[in-house]
Amino acid sequence: MGSKRHSQRVSEVVIRTRADGARELRVNGVFVMDDVETSSERRLAELVLERGARDVLVGGLGLGFTTRRLLEDTDVRRVLVAELHPAVVESSDIEDPRAEVVVGDVRTVLAEQPDASFDAVLLDVDNGPDFLVHDANAGLYEPTGVADAVRVLRPGGTLAVWSMADSPALRDALAEHLEDVQAEAVPVRLQRRDEAYWVLTGRRSPGDIVRA
Ligand SMILES: C[S@@+](CC[C@H](N)C(=O)[O-])C[C@H]1O[C@@H](n2cnc3c(N)ncnc32)[C@H](O)[C@@H]1O
Repeated sequence: MGSKRHSQRVSEVVIRTRADGARELRVNGVFVMDDVETSSERRLAELVLERGARDVLVGGLGLGFTTRRLLEDTDVRRVLVAELHPAVVESSDIEDPRAEVVVGDVRTVLAEQPDASFDAVLLDVDNGPDFLVHDANAGLYEPTGVADAVRVLRPGGTLAVWSMADSPALRDALAEHLEDVQAEAVPVRLQRRDEAYWVLTGRRSPGDIVRA
């Protein structure tokens, strides 16, 4: 897996194995995720694989479940991952020539990409607009942030956003720039309770004209 350092912030990132055997990621003491229930992270990838995505930009490496699910598909050509924290990248075991991880903010990485260069953009950098771990991520869920992701989508391409809860505001932001906006509840089992996480999607109009 290729990797380059893009920018640095001082944060305490801890990836540890808990007493129950689960791997856990924490940033500045805040729980981000573990590897116990990862169906929604993998579903994020599956939603765009079902639509035939071949070139995919992923915001947020985390423990790598979304990225590995993409790479399981032999039709996938390229996965570019933007991950804020170098320690998260350093702890990753993903080895695949189709995958490149850039250490940096996904907004910066998006801004560097040419217009219409991906079939899908997957954002799983935070818990969704209403439960932010990083306040600086708020803009990603707003219409301007959505527009930045849409710019790099090919016509017909999909933006998919992981969220802890459904969000009417995020649906509206997606609908400002995309067609066919949907929110899918992904059933998850959390501490012996049945709950749901969400993946919100929208498609760039297949008729959009991209200027060369
Ligand atoms: C919930 S985890 C992603 C989980 C991932 N989908 C998986 O399958 O393991 C969120 C990740 O996004 C990273 N992150 C947070 N804000 C970011 C940003 N603005 N740009 C890039 N990565 C970011 C965090 O450091 C963390 O690794």
